[in-house]
Amino acid sequence: MSKGSEPRKADFVVVANRLPVDLERMEDGTQRWKHSPGGLVTALEPFLRARQGAWVGWPGVADVEVDPFADGDMWLHPVRLSTAEFREYYEGFSNATLWPLYHDVVVPPVFDRSWWDSYQRVNQRFAEAAAEVSAEGATVWIQDYQLQLVPAMLRELRPDLRIGFFLHIPFPPVELFMQLPWRTEIVRGLLGADLVGFHRPGGAQNFMWLARRLAGFEPSRAQVGVRSRPGVVQVGDRVVRVGAFPISIASGELDQLARTREVQQRAKAIRSELGNPRRIMLGVDRLDYTKGIDVRLNAMYELLSEGHATVEDVAMIQVATPSRERVEHYKQMREDIERKVGSINGEFGRVGHPAVHYLHTSVDRKDLIAFYCAADVMIVTPVRDGMNLVCKEYVASRGDLGGSLVLSEFAGAAAELTSALLVNPHDLDGVKDSMLAALNIDQAEGRRRMRALRRQVLTHDVDRWARSFLEALGASPTE
Ligand code: ADP
Ligand code: F6P
Repeated sequence: MSKGSEPRKADFVVVANRLPVDLERMEDGTQRWKHSPGGLVTALEPFLRARQGAWVGWPGVADVEVDPFADGDMWLHPVRLSTAEFREYYEGFSNATLWPLYHDVVVPPVFDRSWWDSYQRVNQRFAEAAAEVSAEGATVWIQDYQLQLVPAMLRELRPDLRIGFFLHIPFPPVELFMQLPWRTEIVRGLLGADLVGFHRPGGAQNFMWLARRLAGFEPSRAQVGVRSRPGVVQVGDRVVRVGAFPISIASGELDQLARTREVQQRAKAIRSELGNPRRIMLGVDRLDYTKGIDVRLNAMYELLSEGHATVEDVAMIQVATPSRERVEHYKQMREDIERKVGSINGEFGRVGHPAVHYLHTSVDRKDLIAFYCAADVMIVTPVRDGMNLVCKEYVASRGDLGGSLVLSEFAGAAAELTSALLVNPHDLDGVKDSMLAALNIDQAEGRRRMRALRRQVLTHDVDRWARSFLEALGASPTE
């Protein structure tokens, strides 16, 4: 990373709550940049690097002023958040109001007027930063639920720009969205874009219904397709397109990385450190209550107590990245999960063989892929997830056609990965049956399923996602 010369204007700008790197302050007073968590960064970073664009976002720490700087071919433009804004805009409105509301009210959303005020102010600041860094006629791509007011605010400041918006989380059923006291403002904010994108056609349809109901604009009636046939909302003399663009990963790159000697050796080492069990079962998630980590722990508990699995036979690993640690529901969930892990290990663990290997940490990319390569069963059981990239990463890593994927029907990815063992995470018996089926799958059957999954993931990568979105926006991507 290099300190910037003059801040540059870019023809292609990504605006997201977080920069792709987070500033980390060390105990000795020094600081360093580390990779930011989550699927949004995983998906967008490789794409933007190849295009030498600018990224507007928060550096991950409150109350710091950081000058714009270059990171390789990317230009990073930090936006400052105060401690109060971090609490009200980020932890509050984004992650204790919108996040649970958009994830099927898995926990009750909190509606707080001062959080809403802060959300508006911070969105205005992001819009101003995007206006500053964008060249005349640039394409600006705004990301995710934290910034839903930015499209309209930016249009007001810079009508010359082409503006896209993509929502990385589910867009909720209209009955749930209608609970939001500021529902009309959010819909109007999004309608400032030229193209509003969702993972699934259902989200696009819901949004168009709300555009009519709440803002009085007439939407088109035809069904929205996947990457095709976007809907249209006429907003005065502007046409806003509304489409479905399922996100993905840099699957080719991952496939190559997984085949390297280094990763393969690390995978072997993992298996041998676990005492060469017959099966390794893996979960990898941000530590979030939507991810259904408790679901798989409960299922594992019952499989062990009923004697369908033993700790010598099956090693379960759960890698959980710390996330939103001060938000109340996250604190509560972490306690619940760690208590559950403790009690399963207390009851079933043997010396050298815990029932669940629980790592509360973020792991480096190659280690992560080595975990994927070592895992016989990948278990992904969110109660609601916009897409879920972890399951796609697992599939991309299995060029050997080994491994089985157990996947929740409530992840956006389930619509594409139909050859996985699909489960309803609310049906504990169903989850147990599928885990057991995956642990004992016939090799030919496992290979057949994995081949089909890989065909999907390798032909639908993140580049295709971004291209299809930008083409629909009328901003044909250039190398
Ligand atoms: P979300 O965006 O909700 O976090 P996704 O599954 O879409 O969920 O994306 C998560 C991303 O974060 C993936 O790229 C995954 O590899 C990465 N990730 C999740 N947990 C870890 C971890 N413990 N260590 C490193 N990376 C992780
Ligand atoms: O994809 C959902 C998302 O909230 C992204 O917007 C975000 O980058 C990621 O998960 C991680 O969340 P956070 O930025 O709150 O740590």
